[in-house]
Amino acid sequence: MSATAPQVVRFLTGITTTGTPHLGNYVGAIRPAVQASRRAGAENFYFLADYHALIKCDEPARIQRSTLEIAACWLAAGLDPDRVFFYRQSDIPEIPELTWLLTCVTGKGVLNRAHAYKAQVDKNTAASVDVDTDVTAGLFMYPVLMAADILMFKSHKIPVGRDQVQHIEMARDMAASFNHLYGEHLVLPEAQVDESVALLPGLDGRKMSKSYDNVIALFGPREQVRKQIFSIVTDSRAPGEPKDTEGSALFQIYQAFASEDDTRKLRQAYADGIAWSDAKQLLFERIDAEIGPMREKYEHLVAHPQELEQILRAGAEKARTRATPFMGELRQAVGLRNLATLPAAAGKAKAAKTALPSFKQYREADGRFYFKFVDPQGKVLLQSKAFGTPREAGETIARLKASPSSLHSEVMLEPLDSTLLAEASQGLQMLTGGD
Ligand code: TRP
Repeated sequence: MSATAPQVVRFLTGITTTGTPHLGNYVGAIRPAVQASRRAGAENFYFLADYHALIKCDEPARIQRSTLEIAACWLAAGLDPDRVFFYRQSDIPEIPELTWLLTCVTGKGVLNRAHAYKAQVDKNTAASVDVDTDVTAGLFMYPVLMAADILMFKSHKIPVGRDQVQHIEMARDMAASFNHLYGEHLVLPEAQVDESVALLPGLDGRKMSKSYDNVIALFGPREQVRKQIFSIVTDSRAPGEPKDTEGSALFQIYQAFASEDDTRKLRQAYADGIAWSDAKQLLFERIDAEIGPMREKYEHLVAHPQELEQILRAGAEKARTRATPFMGELRQAVGLRNLATLPAAAGKAKAAKTALPSFKQYREADGRFYFKFVDPQGKVLLQSKAFGTPREAGETIARLKASPSSLHSEVMLEPLDSTLLAEASQGLQMLTGGD
């Protein structure tokens, strides 16, 4: 790697579209992600992992509804689709395509060790039933699909919970195997586990989770949220009796929404014997102050699914400006190639020398300067835009030669189709001796 200009860091997170987000998801994932999406010097990818949802859920209406609600939650919570890449996994056909390329470089034994699959196998073993009971090939392949999500966008950092770290490590290994076989195409990702993000307790004090049926709705009707908050389990101490903040779910939830100063005040109020109902009212007001203003946007989006559909399609189009050319490059790398680019068998010995593409600079009748990149048969792989001076054209060529990977972002080129772009990319690398 040459030490050139600082690179943008790409962050990527997927959200499986089963279920409806609750307050725990908001505090643990949505809120920190929306805050992080505003960081400078980074590109952020957030997507609805609906192919992953199919692994766990065979109810079509639920998948559709969950996709709608999760998308609406993220946007209502402040995610700006113009600043980030926000898309639906199943709108990017390059993802399943890459999944297959990765499948072919992944050892079955590696997948045997994946936690989610192993958990089911262990459960079956314990129940003395066949080890493969309830194991679909989808569950087994889960880590490969996830690796494709990540590697498709050359992501560097993947913010996830602890339970997902193994999957990121597998993605890294798949990328390394691929690169070892086919050259340095894939970026090795890293998991990013944020220990400071609060794990929210639920109504009964255990971790807030739908499977414990102890959640507070994120965008439920105000009255429902209020009722849920008033049903948080507390001890039986009467008003006036000092109360413990230690182990108080109510206190911990409050803390996730309040400033340090206000948290200190509530701690004092506990010591002074605040009535549980007053403490609950404080919590309700605090949550409502943060979530209330977002609720209107959420309700609007859920009531206007066509607007959401529009946003997701635009997001997919934007994401595919990356995925399509990159997939072209990867197809080229593994040998899924245009046959016409095969050097004729007769000239095989000479081929290595003569089969290199080259740059041609010229001046058009319009008096402006251009270049094209042509293969040995004379086929145009790249066509530049017009330059005012031959020097500018020359500098662009030099830049491409110095950094073949800048090809995809080089604005001086007319957009060509992805197959040609991949051939150009390959040719450029041959020309510059890069591999
Ligand atoms: N498996 C993740 C989860 O259950 C969701 C997911 C799918 C994901 N693809 C991803 C997360 C890629 C990060 C990156 O939470």
